Amino acid sequence: MVTKETRGWDNYWKRGALHSCVSAADKDKQQEINDFWRGIYAQFPDDIASLDIGTGNGLLPSLAVTYANEQAYSWEIHGVDLADIDPVRDVPEAQDILNQVNFQGRVAAEDLPFEAGYFDLVTSQYAIEYSDMARSIPEMARVLKNGGVFCAILHSDNSIVVAQNNENAQEADYLLESDIFTECKDLLSLMLSRKEAEGGIYNQYVENLLRLSESYPSPSSLNIIPVMQNSLMEIMKLSRKYRPQQILEMIDNARRRLSEQRDLLRDLVSSALDEAKLEELLVQLKSLNFDLVHEGRFSIGQEKGQENVMLGHYIQLKKR
Ligand SMILES: C[S@@+](CC[C@H](N)C(=O)[O-])C[C@H]1O[C@@H](n2cnc3c(N)ncnc32)[C@H](O)[C@@H]1O
Repeated sequence: MVTKETRGWDNYWKRGALHSCVSAADKDKQQEINDFWRGIYAQFPDDIASLDIGTGNGLLPSLAVTYANEQAYSWEIHGVDLADIDPVRDVPEAQDILNQVNFQGRVAAEDLPFEAGYFDLVTSQYAIEYSDMARSIPEMARVLKNGGVFCAILHSDNSIVVAQNNENAQEADYLLESDIFTECKDLLSLMLSRKEAEGGIYNQYVENLLRLSESYPSPSSLNIIPVMQNSLMEIMKLSRKYRPQQILEMIDNARRRLSEQRDLLRDLVSSALDEAKLEELLVQLKSLNFDLVHEGRFSIGQEKGQENVMLGHYIQLKKR
């Protein structure tokens, strides 16, 4: 049994993102990643069963469905995640595609509810490395057919994804360790009790928020702090529309969400594999009768003549 805390991911996927790790604003990067997976799916015939481990809201299965539909293939596509996922409910804009996937939440990579040798293809994008790989890798091998393929993009300790998310985690720590949430609550309480002139309190509130970014030690890469400044400003603007208790709860919720986000960012950073851990994983896979098809950096940008950006490790192996 896996008893890992999943509230952070449960809430993340409920908010409706189709994927994580690569910023939603980075559409070019995401397109290249999608094209990469399309290239993988194009290696398979018309009647496979595939499983995506740690699927989140089902980005990879959605790409597999799209590809299979275009080719008029009848693929059986599954996605599992330890979090309490429900992609069809949470990503309504992709419902038609996601409806064609068999999703199961609350399923640990370490304990897959499938018969041995069921799948032709098992994939994982930034997911299996979050699990206990001493158990999840043999489990993945169990459900894969002989001749089946395992493909994974894994966090790497020197990828841009890990570097950016590490910076974000530091910003989140800075905010959580600051007094900003208490200060905002105190000022809003004062304002709501109308004990002081609103203008002065408003100015103080804004000043406190501005101070956050001004006094941050590495202001060049601010990401989380501006988002929190905006959220706290929005709450201030709502203060006349809601009851005081509700407004103060909004501040508590903003802090709780940030704390959950920080834990996810820390998990991401600690799941990243360095070269030694990657080697260990490959040795483990070889001992489970896998032959290496491909191993290398997962980078994008080079084909378009842009800067080459490393997003992780990519491995593809075939079970003998
Ligand atoms: C970074 S997200 C990646 C999601 C998706 N593959 C994507 O690329 O958008 C990592 C996912 O792994 C899941 N996860 C973490 N530990 C797991 C485990 N032991 N078994 C199954 N899923 C797990 C998390 O719940 C989360 O949804």
